Amino acid sequence: MLTKMMAISHMIGNTPLIKLEHEHINLFCKLEYNNLMGSVKVRPAFYILQEAIKRGEITQETTVIESSSGNFAIALATLCKRIGIKFIPVIDPNINPVYENLLRAFSHEVVKVTDRDETGGFLLTRIQTVNRLLNETKSSFWTNQYGNPDSARAHYFGLGAEIADSFETLDYAFIGVSSGGTITGISQRLKERYPNIKIIAVDTVGSVIFGQEPQKRYIPGIGSSMRPDILKGALIDEVVHVSEEDTVNACYQLYAEHGIFAGGSSGTSYWAIKNYFKDQKHVVKPNVVFLCPDGGMPYVNTVYNQEWVQWLHQQKHSFVGN
Ligand SMILES: Cc1ncc(COP(=O)(O)O)c(C=O)c1O
Repeated sequence: MLTKMMAISHMIGNTPLIKLEHEHINLFCKLEYNNLMGSVKVRPAFYILQEAIKRGEITQETTVIESSSGNFAIALATLCKRIGIKFIPVIDPNINPVYENLLRAFSHEVVKVTDRDETGGFLLTRIQTVNRLLNETKSSFWTNQYGNPDSARAHYFGLGAEIADSFETLDYAFIGVSSGGTITGISQRLKERYPNIKIIAVDTVGSVIFGQEPQKRYIPGIGSSMRPDILKGALIDEVVHVSEEDTVNACYQLYAEHGIFAGGSSGTSYWAIKNYFKDQKHVVKPNVVFLCPDGGMPYVNTVYNQEWVQWLHQQKHSFVGN
């Protein structure tokens, strides 16, 4: 199994780091959508499976089960297919239809929950369903992206190391948070290399990760209905919340200003950076990095669909009253 996985490892990591024009800062973007299956999430998927295989927790008979609204599931499905083991993703209605079709094509079985949890999201219902499936399935393995330390380690040794190898000095990293694996691993690596760096966690309004009131959210990939365990190891200096409408606007700006066609969470970080530095003028421009965790194509029916954007606007501004 490990040999089969290693045969595709050259398609994971070593993603391009590009410099973007900005008036006040030296802005760099790591194009994580250049990874196998188009997202950053293949890094933790690969590492978690690899380590579990090494420990003997995954064998050829194992069924891998995971709660994912998209990118992590697509990555796991691809890797499990490669090594010839079963994969069952637990998804929810926020998944984009293209991803759902892909998962139905690539996975052993897809389980879709429909009930919202008490926070208004689907995560807690998905986790309950994962636990039920783990109990019902013989020889099952939960990759557990919200709590598995290997998810953070993947980024410590992978993405974090690649960024640390790319800069002599680095002043800020803006990292979108969902399961928390990315920011936990990267922050540990970057704080070691650049003790004065500021790690800015970027979250979406309505996500409860950093103690905000829950609200309905419509853009997958960023935010969460619970605070993930894995974040206990994260070294975060500041948290910035971005609305979903600003996320959409920033996706269009990334495209118009830099030719970057990226997914929702890339826009969230881009907006956070523009807002953070809008009034700051530095004698020496700071070096700032952010990620484009996935590309724009999976969002053609949402973020990049004008009708959907109108609909989002209505959801955010409609209220029930007399
Ligand atoms: C598009 C996108 N951006 C950002 C993230 C956040 O990464 P993490 O789950 O490591 O916090 C994810 C996670 O699924 C994602 O799919």
